[in-house]
Amino acid sequence: MTTNSFSEKVINWYESHGRHDLQWRKAITPYRIWISEIMLQQTQVVTVKPYFKKFIKKYPTLKSIKDASEDEILTLWSGLGFYKRARNIFQTKEIIHSEHKGRFPKTFEEIIGLPGIGKSTTGAIMSIAHKIPTPILDGNVKRVLQRYFSDGKSIFSEKELWSLSLSVSNAANSNLYTQGIMDIGATVCTPQNPECSRCPLSSNCSSAFLKIEAVKSKKITDLKTIKMELSLFVADQEILLRKIDDQEIWKGLWSLPYSNESSSEVNSYNIQLIRHKLSHRILEIDINLKKVSKKFMPKNNFQYQWVKVGDVENIALPKPIKKIIENHGKENPL
Ligand code: ADE
Repeated sequence: MTTNSFSEKVINWYESHGRHDLQWRKAITPYRIWISEIMLQQTQVVTVKPYFKKFIKKYPTLKSIKDASEDEILTLWSGLGFYKRARNIFQTKEIIHSEHKGRFPKTFEEIIGLPGIGKSTTGAIMSIAHKIPTPILDGNVKRVLQRYFSDGKSIFSEKELWSLSLSVSNAANSNLYTQGIMDIGATVCTPQNPECSRCPLSSNCSSAFLKIEAVKSKKITDLKTIKMELSLFVADQEILLRKIDDQEIWKGLWSLPYSNESSSEVNSYNIQLIRHKLSHRILEIDINLKKVSKKFMPKNNFQYQWVKVGDVENIALPKPIKKIIENHGKENPL
């Protein structure tokens, strides 16, 4: 079998069975592929769909995002997690406008190394948007290649997987090939119970129809717990928020002040303990409700703002914080 027939099979399969309805696969531009690939780096397709839609509605082109602030981009990202990705989008569009005349760069060397863009994301942008055959190696593609080239007795290194990916990705229609191999990994060659009978690669696959060891997922008990004690200061249905610049996971977002942060002498009621699972840790957030008669600004170097409960939609908030504020709003309607 030649390597070419691997890509032909993938493309033929993609044309009739691929996920053509995904919004980023319609009206393809390098900008849309870039935004979708960044969103898809650590998040599943079903979660990304509404975020991509909202993002593209507000910023359909590179030109339209030119003057967006980091805060505006983080607001659209609110709830999607891994907020560094949004900060990277801000930085990348700044670079594109200052160094590439506002046009998305065309070469591998120019694209790789832009903030948040590694080798596989560059491969996706090059092959899907610029139609230049370039390998990718995300989790799904790794699994397809690992199974195709080995019956499980040998486990390939990252370097070997890259060279296998290169060896099969030299397709004339690299855009169709790359999307096809992604879809085979996501919908057919799944971690558990792969559907080899639906796979266009099964006739030459070393693992086809073998009993596959289930991929073990990390147990929730293995995750580290982080505890936070936060204050929900309420004055006239407005809530005090503080900008996070001293913590990596939520940097640039707005959150509630830590309970020991403000010396305001008010009665405090412990109202809620929230548990929120992030990808690699669990947050336990203790909320102290502090009703105050007048809005105040804590005297320290952080940035604060008071917002109406109903306006939190327009603020870059992490998901659990948004939930806490919305719950408070429901229990205490305006
Ligand atoms: N995962 C990463 N990139 C993707 C894409 N373009 N389509 C679907 N899933 C993906």
